[in-house]
Amino acid sequence: MVLTAPAGVDREFPFSDEDFAEICRLVHRELGIHLTPAKRELVYGRLVRRLRALGLPDFRSYCRLLAEAPETELRELGNAISTNMTSFFRGPAQFAFLREQAWPALRERYRTARRLRIWSAGCSSGQECYSIAACLLAAEPALAQWDWRMLATDIDERCLQQGREGSYPADQWHGLPESAHRFFLRGRGRHAGHMRVSRQLRQRITFRYLNLMGEWPMHGPLPLIFCRNVIIYFDKPTQRRLFARFAALQPPGGYLFLGQSESLLRVSEDYQLVGQNIYQRRAVAGGG
Ligand SMILES: C[S@@+](CC[C@H](N)C(=O)[O-])C[C@H]1O[C@@H](n2cnc3c(N)ncnc32)[C@H](O)[C@@H]1O
Repeated sequence: MVLTAPAGVDREFPFSDEDFAEICRLVHRELGIHLTPAKRELVYGRLVRRLRALGLPDFRSYCRLLAEAPETELRELGNAISTNMTSFFRGPAQFAFLREQAWPALRERYRTARRLRIWSAGCSSGQECYSIAACLLAAEPALAQWDWRMLATDIDERCLQQGREGSYPADQWHGLPESAHRFFLRGRGRHAGHMRVSRQLRQRITFRYLNLMGEWPMHGPLPLIFCRNVIIYFDKPTQRRLFARFAALQPPGGYLFLGQSESLLRVSEDYQLVGQNIYQRRAVAGGG
């Protein structure tokens, strides 16, 4: 007969309801992420390594540490809690929209200045940014002569580092459309099993730590913002504040791409739906 212990009894570290509630409050206040009670085990599992690394005896001590040294430990908490699932050309219909509708409109609008700024907010390990860049450059090789740059931000430092390196397991090659192959180099010799993004793309993208709940250093205008599969973890009031801030950075006609199950319905009046979870900034009332 197999005897099973009641839930929680055989834990390596004591983790009380109060500890969980405190971590939830902090994660919501600092990162915008809304953790439901169903995430309790996940939180335990993700933070247990952190407790071991710090040599702490229980979650109570971890909560105390968070209260005392939030700056440094908050980053570690962000690394541990965030879900970084991503892939190249995730949501292919959105890339078709980018190529066939958004880009022709943006090209028309910015062809004199030949300047384009893009933000991938919640970029994870960079596959999204490199897909955007490869999609645009495959559609418009002349973009290489434009002053175009992309800012890629996240709260997970390990992901950001991988994005900067632009090196991925070679089995991710199968997610690339043929038109994007030329922007990826397959590793040989000691790099076998990896593929690396070409310098042409890497040099235009800056990966930076940015907590969407904190200060933003950029001023806009940002005609293209991707914030996909990030707000799914945010509650409605947090989403509202976030989209008001995006709207302030986008020119009328600017595009905002959201994730598959994300929508601005009852969240923002500043945008209108123009594609699959793709929104366009409305003209400012009384303005252009
Ligand atoms: C599921 S991934 C999505 C990656 C990519 N956008 C995509 O759709 O494939 C969500 C990302 O949002 C980031 N994230 C979560 N909360 C954040 C916050 N408050 N500020 C910035 N990034 C955040 C996570 O670290 C994670 O890398």
